[in-house]
Amino acid sequence: MANLETKYMGIKLKNPIMVGANNLMEKIENIKKMEEAGAGAIVYKSLFEEQIELENMQLQDGLDEYDDRHAMMVNVFPNIKHAGPEEHLYNLEKIKKEINIPLIGSLNCINKDIWIDYAKKVEETGVDGLELNLYSMPQELKKDARSVEKEHFKILSEVKKSISIPISAKLSFFYTNPLNFILGLDKTGIDALVIFNRLFQPDIDIEKEEHIQPFNLSNLGDHKLPLRFTGLLYKKIKADICSSTGIFNGGDVVKMILAGSNAIQCVSTLFKNKIGYIKNMLKDINDWMDNKGYKELEDFRGKLSNKNVKDPYIYQRAQYVDIILNKEPIIKESFTR
Ligand SMILES: Cc1cc2nc3c(=O)[nH]c(=O)nc-3n(C[C@H](O)[C@H](O)[C@H](O)COP(=O)(O)O)c2cc1C
Repeated sequence: MANLETKYMGIKLKNPIMVGANNLMEKIENIKKMEEAGAGAIVYKSLFEEQIELENMQLQDGLDEYDDRHAMMVNVFPNIKHAGPEEHLYNLEKIKKEINIPLIGSLNCINKDIWIDYAKKVEETGVDGLELNLYSMPQELKKDARSVEKEHFKILSEVKKSISIPISAKLSFFYTNPLNFILGLDKTGIDALVIFNRLFQPDIDIEKEEHIQPFNLSNLGDHKLPLRFTGLLYKKIKADICSSTGIFNGGDVVKMILAGSNAIQCVSTLFKNKIGYIKNMLKDINDWMDNKGYKELEDFRGKLSNKNVKDPYIYQRAQYVDIILNKEPIIKESFTR
């Protein structure tokens, strides 16, 4: 049996599989199932600023007002019935007492003061860490990239100063140069980066001619974007790297560790394959390591990162040069189970 232990934002995890924030968490039985299946840690679903702001408002009217400001929350919780901040904080405290693996809270706010205020409140629940779910879907034509980034730097620096549990920033991919932005975030002293969140996208029903909010899950192969950025960032920043999006099986986890991840988060695979599938993922990682003769994750972490690969173009090529140059291109199946 290989040793799958890893360290993530200063917290010891028995293995690198974290369950990312999602609303399976609404039921404590599901959280217990995640623990039983062997999850290394759990990130509880986000507390959104809208939940805080709307506590005393008529809910539906309130959501309408916020529609254009904060599409993610409206999409994730289109028919939100309760989940005020008090209940959320109470749940965190309760879950922390009932499970024996690290629990990480998650916040998604807009105003700096609310970020700080609720970061403190989440810390008081006893959780092991806090994930700041940064949301900046481009929607304001006149707002320039630097001002969006500066706002995030300020929030992270202030939250970091205000609480003593470790913090991570969960990012979307929508930054002009995510690497440069990440470098700036790293300078704020945060403990980890979660790359990347997958944002909900609206769709249109052409028969009804109206918008729909499909239940968006990732697809097999979506791991390639976080894989690329994990490989590029390994040993380039102080913060730990948690790879996220499109990680469906043990093979995908192995790929991320080879690229340089400290840990990974998965969600869609638990919706598609059920929570117990974490067990299969762990077995597959174990089998792969045994087969290769690796005793612990450190034996191969970052082995295929940009820092350690000989071909400098692997992570840099964004186009189809190889395919164009190759007379008989071989399209390899990139997914391994
Ligand atoms: C139903 C559902 C609810 C989610 N809720 C949250 C949330 O509250 N906070 C958050 O940061 N991410 C949330 N996410 C995003 C996931 O944590 C994750 O980043 C995303 O699904 C990509 O990972 P995956 O490919 O493994 O699904 C949610 C995703 C789903 C599918």
